[in-house]
Amino acid sequence: MAETQPEKIVTEETQTKPVEQNTTQVVEEKKEGDDQIIDPYSGVNLSGKAIDYNKLIEKFGCSAIRPDHLERIEKLTGQKPHHFLRRGIFFSHRDLDLILDTYEKGKPFFLYTGRGPSSDAMHLGHLLPFIFTKYLQDAFNVPLVIQITDDEKFFHKGDDKTDLEQYIKYGIENIRDIIACGFDPEKTFIFSDTGYMGGEFYKNVVKIQKHITWNQLKGIFGINESDNTGKASYPAIQAAPSFSNSFPHIFGKSKDVPCIIPQGIDQDPYFRMTRDVAFKLRYPKPACIHSKFFPSLLGINAKMGASDPNSAIYLTDTPKQIEKKINAHAFSGGGKTKEEQEKYGANLDVDVPYQYLTFFLEDDEKLAEIG
Ligand code: TYM
Repeated sequence: MAETQPEKIVTEETQTKPVEQNTTQVVEEKKEGDDQIIDPYSGVNLSGKAIDYNKLIEKFGCSAIRPDHLERIEKLTGQKPHHFLRRGIFFSHRDLDLILDTYEKGKPFFLYTGRGPSSDAMHLGHLLPFIFTKYLQDAFNVPLVIQITDDEKFFHKGDDKTDLEQYIKYGIENIRDIIACGFDPEKTFIFSDTGYMGGEFYKNVVKIQKHITWNQLKGIFGINESDNTGKASYPAIQAAPSFSNSFPHIFGKSKDVPCIIPQGIDQDPYFRMTRDVAFKLRYPKPACIHSKFFPSLLGINAKMGASDPNSAIYLTDTPKQIEKKINAHAFSGGGKTKEEQEKYGANLDVDVPYQYLTFFLEDDEKLAEIG
């Protein structure tokens, strides 16, 4: 698909056209009636309908994670692949094979992931990529960089246009939760954009910005002329950690150590753009590995978000609050009446407590038994 054909040169002419299948073009058109608009800013599944992840793979031009990937990972790491892989929770990728080839040849790669600190509390969905990244760091024993995008949330959220400090503070709170995932302190670098911007990192930001046009920003992120210009400058900042020379204290001058980016599928537009620019800068394209969405408590197709605190479990909730939320608000797949339940059983596909277990109960047999 689009950005997997790097030989073709993008001209100004192709850059002004929407969705081009056979160029390096990354502009994506949001069609009317498209009920699967998934991007970093629309939130999850605005239509309330089930997300068709196969359709998403096709639309985004990524690839499905196949059973042979799992076999290969097991062979290379000497351990059973993480249950997020076994259960198809991490379901899609870009260039995972290249990263596995790199590892097989004994060459280095690194992990990159991030968090946009929109509040002082992360919810369980935010945690998924971090839990998975921790597994990858342990299994492959590689360096990890974690970007805290206090600038991004300031540009996109701040009702109070002066309160950057608040997002910086949220970032610090979120870092505590992230650290608690247990990353290797010797191999992990966590930075906030407002703290780290400068030097080699900023040089990459600048180079990336030079390759991104307004048309691309409009197409990929839905930004328009009335938006603050921070929104336009930001995507290059999320792209820059994909390149090893942004971190001279880890990689020296080396610009060709490839990375793989664990992320929720909503973040993919950033990295489609990044991969396009990487080709132009003669950097390795970042590989990606995408997860499905962790469902809202209110139902697998409902929206999880700060507007309804009962839609999500936050890392700051007490065990009592969690218990109450689950008992009072979790959508049940049970039959509507006793008779229905006895006749048809529960629909586990929509039963939120069961779905949560698929994410957090590692033991396959126990899960089957509960099911
Ligand atoms: P943020 O803070 O919105 O989300 C952090 C990470 O959590 C994922 N995520 C989810 N995954 C599964 N189910 C959900 N319900 C759910 N909600 C959020 C997101 O996809 C993300 O991976 N711009 C980013 C910060 C960032 C980043 C990165 C993320 C900077 N660099 C590199 C991933 C990789 C953001 O605001 O994420």
